[in-house]
Amino acid sequence: MARVGTMNIPLAALKIQGLLRKIDDLQLPDSSRHDVESILVRQAARELDHALPWQWGHGRRTTTLARAIGSRAGLTFDALHHLTLASLLHDIGLLALPAQLAGQHRYVDSQSYAAIQCHPRIGAQWLEPFRFLRKASVIIAHHHERWDGSGYPYGIRGAFIPLEARVLSIADAFDAIKVPDAVDQKTRNRVAYRILKVASGTQFDPSLVELCGDCLAKDKSRNRFQH
Ligand SMILES: [Fe+2]
Ligand SMILES: [Fe+2]
Repeated sequence: MARVGTMNIPLAALKIQGLLRKIDDLQLPDSSRHDVESILVRQAARELDHALPWQWGHGRRTTTLARAIGSRAGLTFDALHHLTLASLLHDIGLLALPAQLAGQHRYVDSQSYAAIQCHPRIGAQWLEPFRFLRKASVIIAHHHERWDGSGYPYGIRGAFIPLEARVLSIADAFDAIKVPDAVDQKTRNRVAYRILKVASGTQFDPSLVELCGDCLAKDKSRNRFQH
């Protein structure tokens, strides 16, 4: 870990911050900013894949579904852009976990769970200094809040949770759900969505779960939501 300011930041996160700093240094017209930001953040997400290999591709897959749900929810072009940046980097805070917890963030004891609960806040803290990631860092900070207020790190509920964070939490969970017995992609997605439905109204915003279902139903032939 390297010490920067008052925070210990692991080297993988510093490397990603180095990549992102390039954008804040560039003087770009607004019209080309979005493209450059997306390209660079996708590059940063690949670095994150190397550092969190047990969830390789999770950011990219989560982004595809989050954008689809966000479009259906009527998010503006600009809001979708910030949702994309947030989705690609949403788990960067996991880099702060002690090595022995790496890759075991699903089933852990209560002390370890407390450490994991910090990752949205830490990720947001690391990204917030970059001007172009300010909105994304708010979304990241809230990606584990729950509709009923029992989530983390702040325990806010319902419409108090930013809409983009509610979208991200659904796409994130959809990708993270394990369906080991699924014989094919279609079955896997069907079972994963059924599990999401069970948590609709408690963990997830029910209207967005419905929109997620619409996206999956509409996508059958295109097969965009691969796991
Ligand atoms: Fe997360
Ligand atoms: Fe995640």
